[in-house]
Amino acid sequence: MTQKVTITIDGKTIELPVLEATEGLNVVDVRGLIKEGVFTFDPGFLSTASCESRVTYIDGDAGILMYRGYPIEQLAKHSNHLEVAYLLLNGELPNNSQYLEFESSIKSHQTIDPHFQQMFQGFKQGAHPMSMISAALAGLASLYHDNTDITKPEDRMLTAHRLIAKIPTLAAIAYKHGRGEKYIEPNPELSYAENFLHMCFGTAGEASTVSPTIAKAMDRIFLLHADHEQNASTSTVRMAGSSDCNPYAAISSGATALWGPAHGGANEAVLKMLNEIGDVSRVGEFVKKAKDKSDPFKLMGFGHRVYKNFDPRATVMQESCHDVLAEQGVEDDPLLEVAQALEKIAREDEYFIERKLYPNIDFYSGITLKAVGIPTELFTVIFTLGRMPGWITHWNEMLSAPYKIARPRQLYLGESKRDYVSIGSR
Ligand code: CMC
Repeated sequence: MTQKVTITIDGKTIELPVLEATEGLNVVDVRGLIKEGVFTFDPGFLSTASCESRVTYIDGDAGILMYRGYPIEQLAKHSNHLEVAYLLLNGELPNNSQYLEFESSIKSHQTIDPHFQQMFQGFKQGAHPMSMISAALAGLASLYHDNTDITKPEDRMLTAHRLIAKIPTLAAIAYKHGRGEKYIEPNPELSYAENFLHMCFGTAGEASTVSPTIAKAMDRIFLLHADHEQNASTSTVRMAGSSDCNPYAAISSGATALWGPAHGGANEAVLKMLNEIGDVSRVGEFVKKAKDKSDPFKLMGFGHRVYKNFDPRATVMQESCHDVLAEQGVEDDPLLEVAQALEKIAREDEYFIERKLYPNIDFYSGITLKAVGIPTELFTVIFTLGRMPGWITHWNEMLSAPYKIARPRQLYLGESKRDYVSIGSR
């Protein structure tokens, strides 16, 4: 059914078309309003669709997340991160030979130019790995600036393969640099997640000793983070990319947007918060702080802009979290006791129930990553690694159809025109 929305501006009635979505809410097309002399106002994009997309669908009230139509629970159970990356990029699941070809292409792009690796030496040892990763991603532009034609689909796909292949290597180098250790070269014999763990925790020249349970949990973390439609970092990639900048630079801007604690930095913030709480006896005090409107403190790992029921990724992640804790034998970790007590109190508290604040994926991924032995400051780097297929798919989707440079307008509330007064007369 074709819908229309009618609005009246200064007595003039204007009809706005409504664009039909295949799933979810339809969208009022306000593009014609500028001709009528008004803008719409929607800070934080609470009611605004910024683009058309065919990649990922979220129904926050029903707790549904689908990549290219496939429910996240099915993908987490039956697929793996590389297959999901192929799905996101190409729109369909690969057959056997397509999968092998994709995997082999990713493996062929895993190494990082030795000269380029030297850029990490410019960072002090304790530098936050997200600063190294965002710099390194933008730095890749220097290697491919003159030979990437973003108008060519094959160049865009090559860029996507390179980024998905190189991000684990860059992440592992950032980790090793932080510890003052020698980098370990990628091992093409290993799966995507095993190779990342080997480059972080293995020994150069020695066979991988990565546990299959941990490799599976890590792959699941990557897969669950692979895309999340128009979140802050993905929208940043689209916005930067809309100026036709180098794709590595656009992706780097996504990584910097991800870094904040309200987005990808939340998994790191969860662990910091659990450490600060320190003991189960102090959980009540922190819940009280989170509810106090005069205190800026929020419970990290709780709440979501879109999920107002439960985060389906959190349900799957909780399962992997328990598998890892059981294998690592760290179920008695005091921090995990704090996490469990916090989850229980928050789920029963009227404040959290009323506002539909549930534990999100970062709550469980943070705890899992800690159990795996990943240092806290690397958590957002892991999110970056997982989100790479989503970012590059959205960039490619935007460039594959006509697009305009993103240029929001504003509600100006500053001074009206006034005359300059010389400094001595002020
Ligand atoms: N602890 C305490 N109160 C909260 C929390 C929280 N974690 N989150 C939201 N609220 C309150 C908020 O104060 C507001 O209360 P009131 O209606 O009385 O003013 C109400 O709940 C609605 O919150 P909001 O800030 O309007 O919600 P939002 O959609 O703008 O923000 C959020 C979503 C994720 C930024 C926010 O919930 C938050 O800061 N959570 C903690 C950080 C976190 O875990 N972020 C990871 C998100 S998942 C990873 C990802 O996909 O990027």
